[in-house]
Amino acid sequence: MEIKEIALEELDAEKFIAEKTEEISLIVGDGLAVSALSGGVDSAAATILGHKALGDRLKTYFIDNGLMREGEPENIVSVFKDLGVTVELVDAKKTFFDALKGRADPEDKREAITRAFYRDVFGALVREAGARYLLQGTNYTDIEETVAGIKRQHNILEQLGIDTEEMYGYKIIEPLIQLRKSAIREVSKELWLPDKIYNRPPFPGPALAARVIGEVTPKRVGIVRKATTIVEEELSSSGAFQYLAILHEDKVTGVREGKRDYGLQIEVRCWESKDAKTGSPTELPYEVLDRLAERITTEVPGVVSVTYSITKKPPSTIEAV
Ligand code: XMP
Repeated sequence: MEIKEIALEELDAEKFIAEKTEEISLIVGDGLAVSALSGGVDSAAATILGHKALGDRLKTYFIDNGLMREGEPENIVSVFKDLGVTVELVDAKKTFFDALKGRADPEDKREAITRAFYRDVFGALVREAGARYLLQGTNYTDIEETVAGIKRQHNILEQLGIDTEEMYGYKIIEPLIQLRKSAIREVSKELWLPDKIYNRPPFPGPALAARVIGEVTPKRVGIVRKATTIVEEELSSSGAFQYLAILHEDKVTGVREGKRDYGLQIEVRCWESKDAKTGSPTELPYEVLDRLAERITTEVPGVVSVTYSITKKPPSTIEAV
């Protein structure tokens, strides 16, 4: 891979911001660019860099793909409004669920999401805006894993030999591609992003679809969304790198009020990691695990089993899909 990493120890965040702002201005010239904001720290930092470089000539969109966490679209639009950046919320739920229909294979699902995002949704948005560039927050770990063939990260295109101009009608600008998460957090602090954004645990581009094993339907996403809210409420004070809920495909036999209940399984993962490249499970106190099981089995309809993953990365990965 020809892209050279800038490690946290060698990063001069102020200089990096000045250089990237200049670079974006030079590339876009007097044209327009579109930013794909997902609410994660990477795309938030990329959007602010783009805004600094282009001002109103950057159009920022938040795509509601139906796979987001509870209240997320409205929350992000409001955080960016406070920062002086207008974000347009685009309802693309149908496009994504149609694309995911009948797909159970992980890479097949990831590819469907990539297509829906870049071709169907952004292809149209970039055209309508009269732009030629899409700005996105791809980071160094994303390319590394995709190029190594571990997972096709939804945002990796050029590194896989995809000519985005030919395929989707626009070029991609990736100002953060040399940085890992810890370095992006430093840049975000320097960009004056609020703590609640730069200290957020990472969240994958394919969103809750990365946490549903098997077919991704509105109903199944609804289940994992409810479990995610509980996991985030209970684990936000843990100081862990990332924590998540996964909905399994297999059912298991449970019992409720003396009757058989063949129900769903939720797996909880909570990670200690610096950069998502490797990770180990957080040694959560037993009372916390107990509360998670109690809440998830009572508050999420149909769930009869909650497990906690005790596996390191590798051989596990952080997300399940
Ligand atoms: P894995 O599951 O590969 O995840 O160990 C490493 C880190 O990347 C996030 N992740 C993604 N982020 N697009 C993204 O933007 C993706 O397709 C994607 N898949 C995983 C994951 O949450 C973790 O922090």
